[in-house]
Amino acid sequence: MTKISIKTGKPLKQKTACLVLPVYEGQLKSGLLTELDTLLQGRLKRIFRSREFNGKAGQMLLLHSTDKISCERLLLVGLGSKKQADISGLRGLGSQIAGYLCERHILRCLIDTSPLQLRKGGGVPAIAALTEGVLLAGYQFDAYREQDKDSVTSLQAATLLIGTTGDKAATESATRDAAAVCRGICLARDLVNQPGNRKSPLFLAETAQKIAKEHNLRCSLLPRKELEQQGFGALLGVAQGSVRDPYLIVLEYHGGTNDERPVALVGKGVVFDAGGISLKPADKMDEMKMDMAGGAAVLGAIQAVAELKLPVNLVAVVPAVENLPSGTAYRPGDILTSLSGKTIEVLNTDAEGRLILADALSWVGQYNPRVVIDLATLTGACIVALGHHASAILGNHEGLIRELIKAGERCGDRLWQLPLWDEYDAQIKGDFADIKNTGGRAAGTITAAAFLKQFSSDYTWAHLDIAGTAWADKSAPGIPKGGTGVGVRLLVEYLRGAC
Ligand code: BES
Ligand code: MN
Ligand code: ZN
Repeated sequence: MTKISIKTGKPLKQKTACLVLPVYEGQLKSGLLTELDTLLQGRLKRIFRSREFNGKAGQMLLLHSTDKISCERLLLVGLGSKKQADISGLRGLGSQIAGYLCERHILRCLIDTSPLQLRKGGGVPAIAALTEGVLLAGYQFDAYREQDKDSVTSLQAATLLIGTTGDKAATESATRDAAAVCRGICLARDLVNQPGNRKSPLFLAETAQKIAKEHNLRCSLLPRKELEQQGFGALLGVAQGSVRDPYLIVLEYHGGTNDERPVALVGKGVVFDAGGISLKPADKMDEMKMDMAGGAAVLGAIQAVAELKLPVNLVAVVPAVENLPSGTAYRPGDILTSLSGKTIEVLNTDAEGRLILADALSWVGQYNPRVVIDLATLTGACIVALGHHASAILGNHEGLIRELIKAGERCGDRLWQLPLWDEYDAQIKGDFADIKNTGGRAAGTITAAAFLKQFSSDYTWAHLDIAGTAWADKSAPGIPKGGTGVGVRLLVEYLRGAC
């Protein structure tokens, strides 16, 4: 990871391989640029006049400096209009700067952050967002790459220059926190990007153990035998098609007082979803290795929360299984008895996520949680409804939903609420059992949540369908193709506000 440090001082006095100067659109006559123009003997003025650069968002202009200036190079980057600056934009800017410099083998830089401001929040969160962008730009999943292994993908060091009036201590702590969140995001991405042949439920369980060891968390794993004894009938139904054993993975973090009720996070952990006997089409089935992205998000989040030492009690639960067709697989028409005692008629073995979540949601009730938030790549219908720019949120408590939506807006992992009216329950009423696991073509994301609602009535609960946001089809600055780590930043942001 790129080394980030904070420094106070004047930009043009700094020794660096590259001095990065962010410029708002049209604001080409600042004191700094005028001073610089003089040192460059009018070169900047000529560039601005020719409209080669005017500060539009995303514009980059690299110049070699002269012996009058102590930096070797200068990079002007466009910030766009001052009014539109938001957290995602600044994060993208950080990624763009890091990507641009890396491509040119310029591996150290100094960024003048003094012009950066968020409309809400001011300078420090703006710098934190830029830092996140720089750090995430260096992310690459190259565990299995044998060729071009040595290509450089991340900056060695970025120094963030704050004006002489800037608060160095607050900025340092904010960038340290940003790095912890990025490590959580990268952990989630790594897990999602792992191929199915390497990623058994046991692999996820062992990863959780490793996180626990490194960050002083409590980890317990419920193996098949235990799940059988306790009656996880829905989860075991899904698991029976694969030779790989299922696990219920549990991590606990105690940052709050002893008597404080915990927040519970539940993440879908289907390490590969072939659909089971209701087999999926071949096209893009490879992407179904991402069907544990909810589980990855809660693991990434609890790691980040532990690093940040947030004053909260937290429990993360990941039901981990594989959904495959085989001679031992569960079939359409099967009736499963869930941990709650409710019976479920399986109409489609590809609606497996709600089955494993049903048991995990029942089980987590024993913690008497203050709130329960589940994250799952649950329905293709969610992609139809919202595409790739927002996750769906539904639940049984408007207050919790509002808080999560607000946290999403603050941090950029955006959520959009869908209704969860009782009228939808009719679609999943069972013919031969209490409920069935699909509700027909209409409102697929909602009926999936209506199914989960049957198992989470004892507590305040929200469900996030991240089917459209957990996987990037193509690369963008800071988000290479593959797992996005969605949910980690959101959960941390929510928990920061909740404690
Ligand atoms: N994991 C899938 C949902 C999914 C689809 C996630 C595409 C990401 C991208 C889930 O298990 C599933 O197969 N859902 C079915 C439910 C249906 C059978 C009721 C779906 O959405 O088609
Ligand atoms: Mn499925
Ligand atoms: Zn699935």
